[in-house]
Amino acid sequence: MSMRNTTTSYGSVTKLFHWLIFLLVLAIIPLGYTMGSIQDKVLRSQVVNIHKLIGVSILILMLLRALWALNNIKPALPFQTPNWQRWVERCMHVVLYVGLIIMPLSGLIGSVAAGKPPQLGSIRIEFPVALNKPLAEFMFEYIHEPLALILIALISIHIFAALYHHFIKRDDILRRMMPYWRGR
Ligand code: HEM
Ligand code: HEM
Repeated sequence: MSMRNTTTSYGSVTKLFHWLIFLLVLAIIPLGYTMGSIQDKVLRSQVVNIHKLIGVSILILMLLRALWALNNIKPALPFQTPNWQRWVERCMHVVLYVGLIIMPLSGLIGSVAAGKPPQLGSIRIEFPVALNKPLAEFMFEYIHEPLALILIALISIHIFAALYHHFIKRDDILRRMMPYWRGR
C-alpha cells in the first residue's frame, strides 16, 4: 500500500492518523465527562492528568496530520457525486480538523492559565500564557465544554455518512479508509 494518498484511495499514513486519532477521541470523551465525579482526590487528579496528556497527544497528531493532508491529494469522490455533496464533505472535513485542534488547545490554555498544566512524570507541559483565572474559566465554559457537544454531533454525522455510503450507496468510500484496502 502506498504511504501517500492516490486518486482512488487513502495512503497508509492518512489511515494511521485517522484511526489512531479516532481511538484517542473515543477514550478522551467519556473520560472528560466522568473524571469530575471521582470522589478520591488523588485518583481524580491522576485521571484528569491522563485526560490532559491524551489531549496534548491529539493536538500534536492533528497538527502533523494537517501538514500531511495539505501535502497530499484527496482521493476523488465518485464522478456522479452532486456538487452540494462535494461541498458538504469538504466543509465537514475542514471543520473536524479545526475542531480537533481548537478542542485540545482550549483545554491546554485553560489548564495552564489555571496553574494546572499537564504533567508527564516530573515534566510540566507548558504553554505561553500567564496565570489567569478568568481566561481559564472562559476557555472551559465557552470553548471546551460547548465544542465537545458540537464535535460529538459532527462526528456522529460523519460516521452516519460513512455507513450510509457503505451499506446504502454501496460505494468504496468506507473501504478506501480501511487499513486492508489497496484500491481497485
Ligand atoms: C481533542 C481533545 C479533547 C477532547 C475531545 C476533550 C473532551 C473533554 C470533555 C468531553 C470534557 C467534559 C466537558 C463537560 O463536562 O462538559 C472535558 C473536560 C476537561 N478537559 Fe478536555 N478534552 C480534550 C483535550 C483536553 C486537553 C489538551 C486538556 C488540558 C491540557 C483538557 C482539560 C480538560 C479539563 C481540565 C476538563 C474539566 C473542565 C471542567 O471543569 O469542566 N482537555 N474535556
Ligand atoms: C473521532 C472520530 C473521527 C474523526 C475526527 C474523523 C475525521 C475524518 C477526517 C478529517 C477525514 C478526512 C480525511 C483526512 O484528511 O483524514 C475523514 C475521512 C473519513 N472517515 Fe473519519 N473520522 C472519525 C471517525 C470515523 C469513523 C468511526 C468512521 C467509520 C465508520 C469514519 C469513516 C471515514 C471515511 C470512510 C472517510 C473517507 C471519506 C472520503 O473518502 O472522502 N471516520 N474522517
